[in-house]
Amino acid sequence: VVDIRSFYKDSGMFTYDPGYTSTASCDSKITFIDGENSELRYRGIPIEELAGKRSYLDVCYLLFRGNLPTEQESKDFDLEIRHRSFLDEGILRLFDALPDHAHPMATMGAATMALATIYKDHLNLENEEEFKIMRRRILAKMPTIAAMAFRNSRGVPMIYPDIDRYFTENFLYMLRAYPGGKLKNLGNGLHEEIKQVEVDALDAILTLHADHEQNASTTTVRNVGSTEAHPYVAIASGIAALWGSAHGGANEKVMDQLQLIGDVKNVPTYIAKAKDKNDPFRLMGFGHRVYKNRDPRAQELKRLQDKLKEELNLDSKLLDIASAVEEAALSDDYFKERGLYPNIDFYSGVILTALKIPVEMFTPIFVIGRIPGWLAQWSELKQDPTAKIARPRQLYTGK
Ligand code: ACO
Repeated sequence: VVDIRSFYKDSGMFTYDPGYTSTASCDSKITFIDGENSELRYRGIPIEELAGKRSYLDVCYLLFRGNLPTEQESKDFDLEIRHRSFLDEGILRLFDALPDHAHPMATMGAATMALATIYKDHLNLENEEEFKIMRRRILAKMPTIAAMAFRNSRGVPMIYPDIDRYFTENFLYMLRAYPGGKLKNLGNGLHEEIKQVEVDALDAILTLHADHEQNASTTTVRNVGSTEAHPYVAIASGIAALWGSAHGGANEKVMDQLQLIGDVKNVPTYIAKAKDKNDPFRLMGFGHRVYKNRDPRAQELKRLQDKLKEELNLDSKLLDIASAVEEAALSDDYFKERGLYPNIDFYSGVILTALKIPVEMFTPIFVIGRIPGWLAQWSELKQDPTAKIARPRQLYTGK
């Protein structure tokens, strides 16, 4: 690792690294990835010890504070998050102004940005207590924003969070509840109850998305944060960056692609398309900038998918197509030579479908999961006295 700062000052050395494939933009104590050995740790703890073993809120606490909470701290944190989950009525009116059928990601970005008009005091955070409140406020409100964005897109009336329910269950409740408390799945037909197995599966999915060091959206949050912009605005910009199909938007595209393939017998045709350099088609849910070996999050999700197969009555046709795609790609030289393995998005879509979550909510769920990572990274940046405004240089090739 070369610290370029000294070279730059002494000799004017300049590096050219499109897409920052080998440039560290900061140092960080939050998340460790070893792409060669398929390792991912949050604050030193392997994800295998967290997903499905600790609650998602405990993992958020870990990312924010650097250690897992005690039993009492866990209870207090959970309670505080429940109480902070409500939205200002003005934000609810903002949803009303947006059209039905708006993509929930667009609505979520707008609503998160709009929170900066309410919590103006968060612009000049001076101590850890203020950071703490800001982080907890955004974390608590994001499932409500996501669920209301969804309800708005379906033209269904808004409801309030139910604070008798745990974070993840409350989110499912807000997706399914009709005013008056009757539970109904607004996406895929009637679905009266919320099963504990669904809450646990979604909780594990959120944990697996919680942070992933300097990916495109986190880098965006840090870049915007480096300009001294409002933290809610930085988070809204993270939502914008995550929406793209090369990033968090891929989980929605994976499902579209599995539907498009339509049948196991068509898999070879699509594998050939993905390999054809004259065809822009890419196999969605495959490949990763850092993992040139298996994505450990995908491996955890595959285990979860296998476990849930019967309990949740997973769509076996889509599962069969997904398995055939996976098998064909993993045994193909094109994918092997380039280190292209299924990433987290490849499996999350099938599981979210089993949870009866409509496809346009896949990326919003990624947002909910990634919030603690963005907030922890934003806080780390703000508490680093050596941090500078993000301002890359360019290699001018024009006239
Ligand atoms: N299908 C077919 N070929 C692929 C794929 C794919 N999914 N991904 C990469 N390749 C090929 C490229 O064409 C390139 O081939 P070449 O060397 O012959 O030119 C080679 O593999 C390297 O690809 P790059 O695009 O240079 O790799 P990069 O690290 O820049 O991109 C990315 C990573 C964006 C994730 C890419 O693999 C991709 O587009 N995947 C599909 C979208 C996806 O699943 N995104 C989710 C990523 S995970 C996440 O954000 C949570």
